[in-house]
Amino acid sequence: MICKEIHQDIEQVLIDEQEIVYTLDSLAARINRDYHGEPLLLVVILKGSMVFAADLMRRLEMPVSIDFMQTSSYGSGSSSSGFINIKRDLETDVRGKNVLIVEDIIDSGNTLHKLKELLRSRKPKSVKICTFLDKPERRVTDVEVEYVGRQIPDEFVVGYGLDYNEQHRNLPYIGILKRSVYE
Ligand code: IMP
Ligand code: MG
Repeated sequence: MICKEIHQDIEQVLIDEQEIVYTLDSLAARINRDYHGEPLLLVVILKGSMVFAADLMRRLEMPVSIDFMQTSSYGSGSSSSGFINIKRDLETDVRGKNVLIVEDIIDSGNTLHKLKELLRSRKPKSVKICTFLDKPERRVTDVEVEYVGRQIPDEFVVGYGLDYNEQHRNLPYIGILKRSVYE
């Protein structure tokens, strides 16, 4: 049996487990303060955001419900195209609700820009975005992101839900992927 150790594909740990906890605590504190106990619908973008969403929601103090959306990004590469395709839509009617989109990482901004527009057209009370990571240098499309966990440099990262070709989501930290893995 070939046993491949997942940590060996990591060049450098960028955000360790302790820093993840600190980031979660400060994001949750801001969200709790801003919504004043009003009910919140978390729209979790599959699949990468599931780990972050699971940790974040347990720190939220208002009544919380969750639903999921999945978009496809045409191919398995390391960057997204300008289009989004909704592979899975919400079951929940968002009309009149406070919606918080939970995303793992914002890169070009294309996905979140389109999603925010789409959800806004369904007449919620409010739509905001909470992303764990932000790569500001990569932004192509302007989008207002209300909650950012950490800004990171322009490196391809995996772990804590984030993948490369569906691998490495189970790493407990955010790490920079070795270039040799994808070049
Ligand atoms: P955007 O539309 O370019 O902002 O794409 C965001 C999506 O691209 C994220 O939800 C991820 O699925 C993916 N992505 C962007 N950068 C990375 C990365 O460094 N690691 C893993 N996935 C990434
Ligand atoms: Mg994603």
